[in-house]
Amino acid sequence: MTPTPRRRIVATSALPYANGNIHIGHLVEYIQTDIWTRFQKMRGHDCLYICADDTHGTAIMVKARELGITPEELIAGTHKDHAKDFADFGVGFDIYSSTNSDENRILSEEFYIAMRDKGHTNVREINQLYCNHDKMFLPDRFVKGTCPVCSSPDQYGDSCDKCGSTYTPSELKQPYCSICKTPPVEKASSQIFFKLNDFKQFLMEWMPQHTQKEVAAKLMEWFETDLRDWDISRSAPYFGFEIPGYPGKYFYVWIDAPIGYVASTWQWCKANGQDFASWWKSPNTEIYHFIGKDIAYFHLLFWPAMLKSTSYNLPTQVFVHGMLTVNGEKMSKSKGTSITARTYLNHLDPMYLRYYYACKLNSRVDDLDLNVTDFVNRVNSDLIGKITNLGSRGAQMLTKKLEGRLGTLSAAGKDLHARGVARAEEIAALYEGREFARAIETIREIADETNKYFDEQAPWKHTDAQKEETRAVLTLTLNMFRMIAIYLKPVLPLYSDKVAKLLNEQPYVWADHAKIVENASVNAYEHLATRVEAAKFEQIIADSMPKDASGNPITTTPAASAAKPLKGNKTVTTQTSSVNAQTSAPTSDAPISIDDFTKVDLRIAKIVSAEAVPEADKLLRLKVSLGEMGERQIFAGIKAAYKPEDLVGRLTIVVANLAPRKMKFGMSEGMVLAAGQGGSDLFILSPDAGAQPGQRVK
Ligand code: MSP
Ligand code: ZN
Repeated sequence: MTPTPRRRIVATSALPYANGNIHIGHLVEYIQTDIWTRFQKMRGHDCLYICADDTHGTAIMVKARELGITPEELIAGTHKDHAKDFADFGVGFDIYSSTNSDENRILSEEFYIAMRDKGHTNVREINQLYCNHDKMFLPDRFVKGTCPVCSSPDQYGDSCDKCGSTYTPSELKQPYCSICKTPPVEKASSQIFFKLNDFKQFLMEWMPQHTQKEVAAKLMEWFETDLRDWDISRSAPYFGFEIPGYPGKYFYVWIDAPIGYVASTWQWCKANGQDFASWWKSPNTEIYHFIGKDIAYFHLLFWPAMLKSTSYNLPTQVFVHGMLTVNGEKMSKSKGTSITARTYLNHLDPMYLRYYYACKLNSRVDDLDLNVTDFVNRVNSDLIGKITNLGSRGAQMLTKKLEGRLGTLSAAGKDLHARGVARAEEIAALYEGREFARAIETIREIADETNKYFDEQAPWKHTDAQKEETRAVLTLTLNMFRMIAIYLKPVLPLYSDKVAKLLNEQPYVWADHAKIVENASVNAYEHLATRVEAAKFEQIIADSMPKDASGNPITTTPAASAAKPLKGNKTVTTQTSSVNAQTSAPTSDAPISIDDFTKVDLRIAKIVSAEAVPEADKLLRLKVSLGEMGERQIFAGIKAAYKPEDLVGRLTIVVANLAPRKMKFGMSEGMVLAAGQGGSDLFILSPDAGAQPGQRVK
């Protein structure tokens, strides 16, 4: 084995908001970072896993008000819950702090003063929406109203759920305060801005080198124009840190949140007698932020620009992951797929989710799907059937028939063992590169080979006269199981510790994989894992359905609301009808004239390219060719239904004369036609062979 130089690593996960529960979507990130940091520690590196609650901002202030408690009380309560959820999932932070700390206040001031003194801030007066009733300025998300583009009611102040347009809250029609429903007024106030454009050249060079290509490609679009000044202050009342020199003005939460990474590291250093500067200001420290794609621009534009104003290290890499879907759809409260960490824990072992996510995670930003059938299969057939059975059968047979004593390996056994050892660096490289799915596949191959050997040798058929042959086979089996448990330790730390106990060993580090344990006695086999029952997932989903005050499920899914009310106003839903609920209510549309119809310019289009829009859950960006009419860019909400690569080259039908619509990601110049309910239930149309791109459909 080649000794690697000892590295100093700080890894972070995004700081979860303190106004909500941890759910299985969040856990994709915390488990991913946990696997990676555990791997680094096993390799002998100095690695810290840093996290904290993100506690400031309007949402938390408003929620505390609603509950009739102080924001401090609210965040103390969630901190406890979050810390417990993470601990129960085996997420092993070195520190789980809070952004509402003295250290974070000191550092936020230090960052701000550095930004200001280097001339990167300015102050100007702006108009914002203000609620006279609640006596506060309203952030975009707290203003609702009618979409200025499609006239859908009750849309948020920044974007429309129905048509996808983005706009400013003052463009909304009939705006109202989402807290008290009164119409807001415009009010002027002076605010502090960070001149992001001062960093444009720097960011254009830095950013593509410090994240995945796909993420950089997307974010480079921001440089097509100048970067706008960023409003970093908020007026009182606001829960956060007051800005030095501006009484009544507070740092916007996205200022002190990332600084929370630094402040938490400082707290860890204080508690562990370590020199803070050697962790966040040393060129020898590597810093990695694990984040979801929804917050990529905060971490790849604003944050590096802030750091650049100070003497703290810039991140070595920002690792961006995709969003979790459940059975192919975005997590949904009404469908019971918005599953909290706690609800999951009430029914299932956390080890299964850790293993399943590891099977799905890679270094890309694609969304990842938790498919219940797949989950049950991976756990039962692989983790239990292929891996755990090696240990349980091996150890139990050895105890029952052979006094629990290991012998030595046969020549063939040594050979098999050496082949497994030879894969260590390959597996390590996969962990290092966040290719966990491939790491697990490789480990599974080792298990497959061992199972094959075990079955061929059929130790259970051996007679008493062949005792020593049996012992050799079981010794090999248990040594292979041991190696697998070491390779799997970043994913399943508790499991691996139990295997170490079985074999009378200390908790494993990576270098232990090559050792062969011979002529030693094994301890009594302690149960490692049981099969999952699919029904547990149905219970989890039933428990995650929204409930009314008396604890009865309430739901707006069509299948459930169509159910007959039973006993007064209680609605009954069944577990199965609530998953993938379908409606096929026929609509009685008014007839249109042929003139109306011919207004719609339907054309055959050839899909030239297709790619996911990382910041949008539903959208694919398509380039389609309309033959002589040229190419169009169309954003289509079909991400959950199609893999981009499967679409390229296909013919389909588009509306070619729809007014172009400006979306956050660029112009959409047409519409792709599709049938279905939405989500993964969508079918685009295909013409028969012979149709040509650009041909009119009549
Ligand atoms: N508070 C901010 C982060 C501040 S970091 C300085 C925030 N909090 S969050 O609670 O909304 O999200 C925390 C992390 O969980 C983010 O990286 C986010 O992308 C990730 N996820 C939240 N929901 C998720 C899924 N459904 N799937 C995968 N990751 C998800 O953003
Ligand atoms: Zn109000």
